[in-house]
Amino acid sequence: MTRRPARLVLLGHPVGHSLSPTFQNAALRAADIPVRYEALDLEPGDFDRCVSRLVADRVAGNVTVPYKERMRERCDHLTPLAARVGAVNVFWVDDDGLLVGDNSDVGGFNAAVVELLGEPPRGITVGVLGAGGAAAAVLAAVESWIGCDAHVYNRTPERAAHLCARFRSIARPVDDVGVIAGAQLLVNATSVGLHDDAMPVDPALVAPDSAVLDLVYRRGETRWVRALKTRGHRAHDGLGMLVEQGALAFERWFGMPADRVAMRASVRDGAS
Ligand code: ATR
Repeated sequence: MTRRPARLVLLGHPVGHSLSPTFQNAALRAADIPVRYEALDLEPGDFDRCVSRLVADRVAGNVTVPYKERMRERCDHLTPLAARVGAVNVFWVDDDGLLVGDNSDVGGFNAAVVELLGEPPRGITVGVLGAGGAAAAVLAAVESWIGCDAHVYNRTPERAAHLCARFRSIARPVDDVGVIAGAQLLVNATSVGLHDDAMPVDPALVAPDSAVLDLVYRRGETRWVRALKTRGHRAHDGLGMLVEQGALAFERWFGMPADRVAMRASVRDGAS
């Protein structure tokens, strides 16, 4: 990271429920950095104009649904990871005034998996539900693990086939959700359960020794995670990944460690 940004923003639509301002402002306070982080709810028609203004003002920030792919197209320079995932969730303006895009979702997911399993994964098969941007970040992580591969199931099979073609050395689409449910690590990378108590896979189908990571987070965990824990599974929701991707973004912007303890403490009771 070059010059310190004067302001930080989250670009998305909607962003009202985002926890990012809470934990990023906690990290800024902990580091004594007099910069504010705020969410900007952008109508699609305002995106391009807003980004031009942010670049001119040298504002840095995060990008969330539905703009991660659009931001990738807009950036002057992508890190190799952002290019591999095909999505940008962290951006800044360099000293030449160029818009740089990165992806910290992959690092956030990696950290969440290590926290769940207690060690880096090795030689396992991952069952992935979903074929959007979150699933692409999951596959980019699996690709970096030693001896691991993935089965991908999606409501719309054509999207799963398309995504797996981009990660063909490690990923294979499947048309039976039972295959996913039998994986050693099962990941929900869909939005199922975000707004209600819907479950992405029937807990009774999940293999008894599967560990489960739900990338969705809600206050008091998702119903799916609670049901799986009741059945004896190791299961975490998406809060750990969310905070870690934010900590990695902070480190890109400021070139110093983020206070993860302060970040987690700020959202522990506020997730919704
Ligand atoms: P993101 O970037 O967060 O991954 P996305 O690209 O819109 O968002 O992808 C959302 C994922 O959730 C997709 O895999 C989507 O399935 P489709 O490709 O069939 O649309 C999945 N998804 C969303 N709602 C779903 C539902 N009710 N049942 C099953 N899958 C759902």
